[in-house]
Amino acid sequence: MSTYVNPVDPPDLGLLPTFRRLLPLWWAERRLGFFGLACSLVYVLISIAIPVLIQQAIDHSIDATHHQHLKPLWPYLAIIVVLGAGRFVINFNRRFATARIGVRIEARMRELLYQAYLRYPRAFYDRHATGQVLSRATNDLYPIRYFIGWGLVQGMQSIMMIIGVGIVLVLVNPLLALYTAVALPPITWLTFRFARRVSPISREVQERKGDVTEAADEAVVGIEMVQAFGRENDIRERFGDKAEGVRATVLRQAGIESRHLPGLYYLPGLSIAAVLFFGGRAHIHHQLTIGQFVLFETLLLQLVWPLEALGWITNLAQRALASAGRSFAWLEGIHPLPEPAEPRHLPEKPQPLEVRFEKVGFAYGGEVDVLHDLELVIEPGEIVAVCGPTGAGKTSLLNLLPRFYDPTAGRVLIGGVDTRDLPIAELRADVALVTQRPVLFSVPLKENILSGREDEDWEKALAAAVASGVDSFGPGLPDGYDTLIGERGVNLSGGQRQRTALARALATGARVVVLDDPLSAVDTFTERRLVARLRPALAGRTVLVATQRLSTVEIADRAVVLLDGRIVESGKPKDLIQAGGPFAKLFRDEVVAA
Ligand SMILES: Nc1ncnc2c1ncn2[C@@H]1O[C@H](COP(=O)(O)OP(=O)(O)OP(=O)(O)O)[C@@H](O)[C@H]1O
Ligand SMILES: [Mg+2]
Repeated sequence: MSTYVNPVDPPDLGLLPTFRRLLPLWWAERRLGFFGLACSLVYVLISIAIPVLIQQAIDHSIDATHHQHLKPLWPYLAIIVVLGAGRFVINFNRRFATARIGVRIEARMRELLYQAYLRYPRAFYDRHATGQVLSRATNDLYPIRYFIGWGLVQGMQSIMMIIGVGIVLVLVNPLLALYTAVALPPITWLTFRFARRVSPISREVQERKGDVTEAADEAVVGIEMVQAFGRENDIRERFGDKAEGVRATVLRQAGIESRHLPGLYYLPGLSIAAVLFFGGRAHIHHQLTIGQFVLFETLLLQLVWPLEALGWITNLAQRALASAGRSFAWLEGIHPLPEPAEPRHLPEKPQPLEVRFEKVGFAYGGEVDVLHDLELVIEPGEIVAVCGPTGAGKTSLLNLLPRFYDPTAGRVLIGGVDTRDLPIAELRADVALVTQRPVLFSVPLKENILSGREDEDWEKALAAAVASGVDSFGPGLPDGYDTLIGERGVNLSGGQRQRTALARALATGARVVVLDDPLSAVDTFTERRLVARLRPALAGRTVLVATQRLSTVEIADRAVVLLDGRIVESGKPKDLIQAGGPFAKLFRDEVVAA
């Protein structure tokens, strides 16, 4: 048991493997990427050229101490204005290009995740909370977009700027360059320290905000229960606690910011002071022109932001890689249901199919067994009812047929073929399912019954609607069968929903029909009527119906009793009642009532 690795909860990927997987995504956008980098390079060159031009202008056109014949000022001005405008255009292009890369890569990751979500096995959804699944494909991707769309190129630009400014300063006056460098190491150190401290907190803020959303979500989704059981105060308190958590963390973040940021803004002042002092002395001794003096000050100020940015960007990179690492872990570590290597096929239609469970054992996620050594054969065209107390394993058994889960032991065969050998689409096209709590889509009633298959003709679907009793309420809806169902439309009652789901299952041409307590929400009178209609509608199909009600058992040719994951009795319902065994015990009250 200790070696059990959960196949739907893989560990996050490390930094390097994540980087290797992000690279191809970036490479797909390389044209924009290289364009952005080129813009950055030009931007840096212009940013250095402008102060140099100002220096020239001061020394050659303004300061009269060295040159008797001053050059005209306007050419310098013209060039500076043109360069300034060029820098504006380039900056715009760089930002837009890199932002587009970020947005595209984020969208690509989201698309990959959603595609994967659609194919993940049910066990995945048992393991992970809905909020977590959704936020991994939404909020969690934000640092990736921010890093790739801004940090990456900004980081390179910062490095180019630092190198470029360093070269110019050393060329102009190496000694003064050295003096002015005094404040740079502390700025760098402080920035990195600040970013290191603040980034886990900003991550915590993010997580705690998630908690608040989840608490709110829970209350809204479960509003009926909250109000019915008078739990408003509890819920409010729980929500308050979470909100308080966010507030405390945000305050802690503000504290760290106020301790570090003033220092960061103060330190460049030291360099400026150093230039003022040493540069001033050099000027007095005629070793530095006024223009060069100004050049030093200007370039120094221009260094502050790149240094600060680098600190931010390293931390942003870590966060982006961590969050991409989590996403890639899911994308690669969790496998959709495997398609068979050598697919086999079902017998041609319309031949009905046999369903066979052979020594089937099943357990959810490596826990205790829910089904043990189960043997059951349903003849082609037979209707078998699976009865048993709640928690006996009926739903678990039924879920094996469309391969929501695979058995942990034994095999499930349809038409003589192991379900794992069938292409999944083929299997699911021939197994129609009505789940215990049916889900309808927010589309018109008609489309819910057709379940999106446009090739299906409405005449056939209408017959299914009649057989499942949708005809008793469908035409009476505001727009008849075209009425929009669900959150933005008409809400159907539990029984109406069940009947719609039943019609949807019957409207498919599936030869195997799996019904999980399909009539539990309709009244017994309607149930009787439906049972009478359903039998002919199910003719020629092999049906497995789980139920808790004797009146639904009447639809079946044969009933089996499931107790603790084992079949303990099997036979015609009438005979089983006579026999007085587990079946008779299960339905004693109903038999007496009838
Ligand atoms: N997704 C799941 N993960 C883990 N255990 C589960 C899961 N679904 C069901 N179980 C467990 O498996 C056992 C059988 O559950 P199952 O839903 O198959 O019962 P059932 O016979 O359909 O009951 P009911 O008549 O109430 O629908 C129960 O003990 C239940 O706790
Ligand atoms: Mg069930």
